[in-house]
Amino acid sequence: MTFTFYGHACFGIDTGSEKLLFDPFLTGNGAASVTAEDVPADYILISHGHGDHFGDADAIATRTGAEVVAIPEVLGMFTRTPAAEHPMNLGGSVELPFGRVTMTPALHSAGVAGGVACGFLIQFKNGVNFYYSGDTALFSDMALIGKKAPIHYAALPIGDNYTMGPEDAVAAARLLGAKRVIPIHYNTWPIIAQDPERFAALAEEAGVAAHILAPGETLSLEK
Ligand code: NI
Ligand code: MN
Repeated sequence: MTFTFYGHACFGIDTGSEKLLFDPFLTGNGAASVTAEDVPADYILISHGHGDHFGDADAIATRTGAEVVAIPEVLGMFTRTPAAEHPMNLGGSVELPFGRVTMTPALHSAGVAGGVACGFLIQFKNGVNFYYSGDTALFSDMALIGKKAPIHYAALPIGDNYTMGPEDAVAAARLLGAKRVIPIHYNTWPIIAQDPERFAALAEEAGVAAHILAPGETLSLEK
């Protein structure tokens, strides 16, 4: 199973059978390593309605026929009805072919009227547990997410200004009990400029391994 960073908060997880695509903001994202025309997807998971997360979801869902997993308000943003939709809401879990998906709370604005921002905890069938916080502030209930399952990887924003910065992302990793963190949502624009090496050093001091990926780089996920 592999994780590929596409830039900003967009990434893919390939289980070997299914291709999951998260927050597909590619067009207009100068850091993107793939185009909306080429990125593969069997499932598209969307954390909230902001343009740097919803992004190209409409076009990619139409091209690929991927099943879209999101809150109902975000599903309502599609102008072309996806071939398959899976509405969820905070605290809910569902068994999908690749594993169990739990929609987790996030402290962030929704980007769509009536909605909320969310994250995802995915307990893959191969035993790897992966958490994507979405855009969020630090919140102490992250400890509860870490109690649901031992988190092998947490993809966390470190850009500051709109989300957690590096220090809070390290605190988040500790609350989660995450073994490894993948920093995202930084350096796309000057306002979220961060030094990922400084983040990695802070994480290491806290006993958490950081995997810094440049857009286009792939990481093999293991327990
Ligand atoms: Ni946002
Ligand atoms: Mn964002």
